[in-house]
Amino acid sequence: MLNENTIAIIKSTVPVLEVHGTAITKRFYQLLFASHPELMNVFNHANQRQGKQQTALANTVYAAALYIDKLETILPAVKQIAHKHRSLGITADQYPIVGQNLLQAIKEVLGDAATDEILNAWAEAYGVIANVFISVEAEMYKEAEEQQGGWAGYRAFRIERKVQESHVITSFYLVPEDGGAIAAFEPGQYVSVKMSIPDQKNTHIRQYSLSDAPGKPYYRISVKREDSQPGKDAGVVSVYLHEQVKEGDVLWLSAPAGDFTLDLKETRPVVLISGGVGLTPMVSMLNTLVDTNSDRPITFIHAAQNGQLHALKQQVEEKIGQAAQAKAYWCYAQPTEQDAGTYHKEGYVDLPWLQEVIPSKDAVYYFCGPTPFMAHINRQLLEWGVPAADIHYEFFGPKGSLDEA
Ligand code: HEM
Repeated sequence: MLNENTIAIIKSTVPVLEVHGTAITKRFYQLLFASHPELMNVFNHANQRQGKQQTALANTVYAAALYIDKLETILPAVKQIAHKHRSLGITADQYPIVGQNLLQAIKEVLGDAATDEILNAWAEAYGVIANVFISVEAEMYKEAEEQQGGWAGYRAFRIERKVQESHVITSFYLVPEDGGAIAAFEPGQYVSVKMSIPDQKNTHIRQYSLSDAPGKPYYRISVKREDSQPGKDAGVVSVYLHEQVKEGDVLWLSAPAGDFTLDLKETRPVVLISGGVGLTPMVSMLNTLVDTNSDRPITFIHAAQNGQLHALKQQVEEKIGQAAQAKAYWCYAQPTEQDAGTYHKEGYVDLPWLQEVIPSKDAVYYFCGPTPFMAHINRQLLEWGVPAADIHYEFFGPKGSLDEA
């Protein structure tokens, strides 16, 4: 454990980190990739370009610095990150590499302010934090490998079916090449997909939520094609999956991971709210509830731009039709003429409408979608008086903060 002096130094450097945190992590990634170019195969370069990963790492470093003498306080955050690390295949021997480059970055950015005492304190603190991650992840690797149908690392899956679900979303039904069993998962969890794309120097890893219930002979992911937009490049992986990858091809998957999961022991009503491709974990949750004959009242709310961009509509309607206590509602931001009579609300999801369609406020809420959408839903629910403990949400990329959205 760290001594009191080290803890005091770490805590006193938090304000400095707050000013320089992002600069430090930015420099850290430059150093890391220069000394270990093989790690370019592991990090998501789109997240890097948007600075998302830098912010996520900086935030975690602040939190760890603040709670260095009671790291158990940040254990839920550690677990969420550890799920991501486990699904990516991060190993214990990579921690010292990250540590050395982080320290070097602190030294360079802080300049004279980075005394030996401060650097030594941070080296020690990093060691303590890294050990927490390493032990949580070791447990997760063990679980992933030992469970029935589980595996370590990446396993080859053949695309049995590729189905277009909307103008921009396509589902891939994936079965293991080895013909073996596949691990159960909790609805809401994701898999990492590792891809080599012709003409691309590095491999790419992306996370996709599993969009069907567990217990099937396949895993299903439903991927949105990320076309280029002003200020944002097209998604290399999603466009390749949509345009080049075909039935019969192989994708490499890690075992399911993630802590945004439906609590199956809960008995209260459940409200599932999604925006755009955020519907994928929600459909998994809905299908699981209906397939297991849950008698919980279910409200499924989906917001899409219009009917053409509304994926999995028919499948969700069929599922809802199998459960008398389940209801679905569609909210279209800009419906077209063709959509007339097929949706319940025009514009955006707002509190009066939520109060109209949700039978009882006393429910457990899950939502997923673009960050501004989630921030809006979160505010509406809190304004209604839903306790924060009953509100659960998942970010598409690195975890951020809804307060900043
Ligand atoms: C993701 C923190 C060590 C590789 C993340 C995220 C955080 C984080 C906060 C974002 C999680 C999310 O998606 O919400 C840390 C901390 C570490 C550490 C505090 C040390 C104590 C490592 C190591 C590696 C690594 C040793 C291996 C080289 C990654 C990768 C991602 C990630 C590849 C996903 C990034 C992306 O795809 O954009 N980490 N990490 N991390 N981490 Fe770490």
